[in-house]
Amino acid sequence: MKGNNDMRRPLVAGNWKMNGTQEGVIELIDGIKSGLDGINVEVLVCPPAIFIGLVGARLEGSKVKLGAQNICQQPESGAFTGELSAAMLTEFGCRYAIIGHSERRHVYGESDKLIAERVAAAVAGNVTPIFCIGELLEERENGTTEQVIAQQLDAVLNLDNGIVLLKETVLAYEPVWAIGTGKTASPEQAQAVHAFIRSHLAKQDEALAAGIKILYGGSVNAANAEKLFGMPDIDGGLIGGASLKVNDFLAVCKAAG
Ligand code: PGA
Repeated sequence: MKGNNDMRRPLVAGNWKMNGTQEGVIELIDGIKSGLDGINVEVLVCPPAIFIGLVGARLEGSKVKLGAQNICQQPESGAFTGELSAAMLTEFGCRYAIIGHSERRHVYGESDKLIAERVAAAVAGNVTPIFCIGELLEERENGTTEQVIAQQLDAVLNLDNGIVLLKETVLAYEPVWAIGTGKTASPEQAQAVHAFIRSHLAKQDEALAAGIKILYGGSVNAANAEKLFGMPDIDGGLIGGASLKVNDFLAVCKAAG
C-alpha cells in the first residue's frame, strides 16, 4: 500500500530544537541543500523560531521545506506573549509546524486539548501540523501504550471536524523513552504502534487511515534509519540530534528514499 500512495511519499523532518547560531544554521542549511541531489524524499527543517526568517531566505528556490517547532492556537494577532500565529509563519514561508512534541507536553505542560486547538488553528491558517504522539517509558512498561496513543489521537479525532483536520495533518509517533536517549524503538516495536494508529483511525475513516503520513521519531540516525523506514506503516522520520549534522541528516534522508 505504502508505495502506491502518493500522499505517503516519505518525509524526513529535522527538528533542530533549541540549537544553533546564525553562522551554524547557515552552514547546516547550505550543506543540506547541496547534498540532496538525487535523494527523492520530501525534506523539512524546523529551526528555532528566531532563525525562521534567515533559513527561509536561504531556502528560496530550494525544494527543502520550512517548519516551526510550535504554533499558537489563536490564528490571528493578539495578546499571546511568546507565541507565533499561522499568519506570521506563512508570511515567512513556513508551511509546517510541529505540534504536541513530547517536550511541549511534558516540560511545558501542554494538554491534549490545547494541542488539538493548535492543530485546528494550523490547518485553518494553511500550515500543515506535524502532530506528535507517544507514550512515556512507564506507560509502555505498564502496558498502556495503545490507550495513551488513542487518547492523544482522539483529542483531535473527536473534534467536530476532526477527520477533516487529520486529513491535512502529518502524524509523528515518538515514544518519549526513545527521544534523545539513544534508545530507539526496534523497527518491529515502531511498526506495531504505527499499525495500531492506522487501525484506530480506520474505525472512523478508512481513507484517512490509509492515506495519512506517519513519521517515526526517537533517536533515528544513519545506522538505524533504513530498517525503520522499511516498515510498511512508517512514512519517514522526525529527527532531532541527527538533524544537526549535515552528513548524518543526509544519510537519514537517503535511507528514506
Ligand atoms: P532525537 O529527537 O532524534 O534526538 O531522539 C527526536 C525528536 O524529539 O523529535
